[in-house]
Amino acid sequence: MTTILDGKSLALKLRGDIRAEVDAHRVKGLRAPHLAAILVGDDGASKTYVNSKEKDCEYVGFHSSVHRLKSDVSEADLLELIRSINDNSDIDGLIVQLPLPKHIDATKITEAINPEIDVDGFHTISVGKLTKNEDTYISATPFGVIKLIEEYGIETKGKHCVVIGRSNIVGRPMSILMSRGGNPGECTVTLCHRYTKNISVHTKMADIVIVAVGIPKFLKGDMVKPGAVVIDVGITRVETNNDKGYELVGDVDYDAVKSQCSAITPVPGGVGPMTRYGLLFNTLKSYKKKQGL
Ligand code: GUN
Repeated sequence: MTTILDGKSLALKLRGDIRAEVDAHRVKGLRAPHLAAILVGDDGASKTYVNSKEKDCEYVGFHSSVHRLKSDVSEADLLELIRSINDNSDIDGLIVQLPLPKHIDATKITEAINPEIDVDGFHTISVGKLTKNEDTYISATPFGVIKLIEEYGIETKGKHCVVIGRSNIVGRPMSILMSRGGNPGECTVTLCHRYTKNISVHTKMADIVIVAVGIPKFLKGDMVKPGAVVIDVGITRVETNNDKGYELVGDVDYDAVKSQCSAITPVPGGVGPMTRYGLLFNTLKSYKKKQGL
């Protein structure tokens, strides 16, 4: 029997816990947590993500503010806005939705965010603390995956974890988290990427496979060891002739891999909702720090 790692239901429960906690703080007369987002331009996927973040904030009782800027905004003006948000002590979290237009240096922007409110966990200080296993904001997706593994009681100590994809946002932090001391953690980690030769040799040895490459159905049934745990971070819109005109497809060939493994995340409804929870968790964490809770 394969366990379906139901991120949708779990995130719903966890969001409920956040809402209850916020309610309790509000009853005591404290302000609501506040997440600020900056969206530059009109990239469709980015707009959808930011709208979801607004909805999530509303659900848990957070205040959210979204700064929607034209795609030709100057880097200097964007930096100025970030500085003004950094200086606003009533804002607990700031995210600048990526990608940014080409004329803006994304690294400069990420580094301009005060690490105290860097709820995306993209700042060098946040990443540095993560690598040293110090308390920090862990980026929403790796955080969500760790939480999913923890809540489902999946044993990680001494296991071999193969992470596919080495992005700064997912693969690399994921590899650090799975190998660090603590639970979940203590894995032997192999980090595979586009230049890895014979990737199946690695994945077939893995007790846990985490795939974050953005290639629909990349991981096939014959690439996993029977009984492995498979976490699918990918979510790609693939055109089809259904009502919407597209379907969301993960990096895992779901039906073929499901028959091989002991546990698997579906797409949609697996890692995605846990990622959304991660951002709320980080914002609440910042709020509590600011409020001395
Ligand atoms: N673009 C895609 N994912 C993310 C994310 O988690 N945070 C931000 N800021 N931009 C993104």
